[in-house]
Parts: sequence; C-alpha cells; structure tokens
Amino acid sequence: MFQSLQQFLLQKKIIIVKVWHLLLIAWLVFLALSTQLLSITSWIWWGTKSATISLIVFWIVLLPGMMKRFQIVGWLLPIRTLLLLYRRQLGVTMYLLALTHWGWSRLLPLIASSSNPWLFNPFEIFGLIAFTLLTPLFFTSNDWSVRHLGKQWNTLHSLVYVVIWLLFFHIALQEVSWKALVTLIVASLEFFSLIWAKVLNPFPKNP
Ligand code: HEM
Repeated sequence: MFQSLQQFLLQKKIIIVKVWHLLLIAWLVFLALSTQLLSITSWIWWGTKSATISLIVFWIVLLPGMMKRFQIVGWLLPIRTLLLLYRRQLGVTMYLLALTHWGWSRLLPLIASSSNPWLFNPFEIFGLIAFTLLTPLFFTSNDWSVRHLGKQWNTLHSLVYVVIWLLFFHIALQEVSWKALVTLIVASLEFFSLIWAKVLNPFPKNP
C-alpha cells in the first residue's frame, strides 16, 4: 500500500505539482472573495484554521532535514525521501497559509472595524518577524533559484532554524497549548540535530 503510494508520488510529480498550483490559485481567489462573501466571525475562523495547518506543514517541512542529520534510516528512509521530494512545495503552501492567516486573523478584522492596523501585540511581532524572514525563502523556493544561488541557497534557507523559535514564541505567548508544546519539541529537536551533526556525532558520514 505505502509502496504503491510512494511510486505514485515519485512518478507523477509533474502532474501533482500542476494540480497543486491550481489549488493554490483557487485558495488565493477564495481569500480575495472572502472580503465580499464572509462575515468577520468566519474570517477569524478561517484565519485560525489556516494558522494551524500552516504550522503543522512547517513541522513536516523540518522533518527530513532533522532525519538526515540524526542519520535515521530503516523504514523511515522512504518517508524522508518523499518529504524531500516535495519539501519546497510544502514550504510554499505553508507560507501562503500563513499569509491568509495574517489576512483573515488580523488585517481584515482590523480594517473592517476601522482600527489601526499598525498596532501590534508582542506575540504578533514574533509572527510578523517569522513571516518576514520566510518571504525570501518563499520567493527562492523554485528550481531557478536553487540553480543560481548555489551554496547561498542553503545558507538562506537556514533561516528556518530561527523561524521555528519565533513561531514558538508567537504561539506560546498567546496560551500554553499543544501547538506551543509540539513547536517547542520540534524547535529543540532541530537545534539538537544541528549540534549532533556538527559536533557530537561519532560516526560522521563524510569525515
Ligand atoms: C509564519 C507565520 C505564522 C504562523 C505559522 C502563525 C501561526 C499561528 C498559530 C498556530 C496561531 C494559534 C491559532 C489557534 O489559536 O488555534 C496563531 C494565532 C494568531 N496569529 Fe499567527 N502565525 C503566523 C504569523 C502571524 C502574523 C504575521 C500575524 C499578524 C501580525 C499573526 C497574528 C495572529 C493572531 C492575531 C492570532 C490569534 C488569533 C487566531 O487564533 O487566529 N500571525 N498564529
């Protein structure tokens, strides 16, 4: 069962990516239309849902890098390969969900109530910095940028190690929740995987 899914995801990547592009466009059209179609309560509902999905997708984006640094193999290796294959698409999805979260959770309700959109809660500032840091990553998540930036691409995309901590503070400063807890675990594992790969690992792959 998993093997046939794996084959399908490997062989049909081009068509899957095309369908994914269409879904992203549909999502952005829905965001644009929501200003006319939905009430403020629905915007906030959609904003919270897209925030949660964006966060979960971000955890998934970080997994293959961590698995590689911890040199996890066995039955998890095919999962790592598949996640790596679609990692950039997952990252772009995460960013667009975060954008819609910002629009629905904050911008649209503030504009509708004629409040000042430039006043931020401390927890929002962490979200805003995380989102800003993710912007260059979003624009360079394509084959052209990978080819042209070379080693700088990896350096730029290392910003995710900072972003996961910013997101932890963004969420934990609102309330102690399972989302904050899992984000803390992911951020800590990410940190230890880097220390492990660079300093502690007694069996480096390329000594
Ligand atoms: C990478 C970017 C971001 C991610 C992944 C993210 C994720 C989250 C998550 C998971 C929550 C908790 C939702 C819940 O209670 O279930 C949340 C809440 C919130 N975030 Fe963000 N956030 C991001 C950026 C931002 C930005 C840029 C702003 C605006 C300044 C913002 C404003 C808010 C607000 C107002 C809430 C509380 C209302 C709500 O639950 O929707 N966030 N965010």
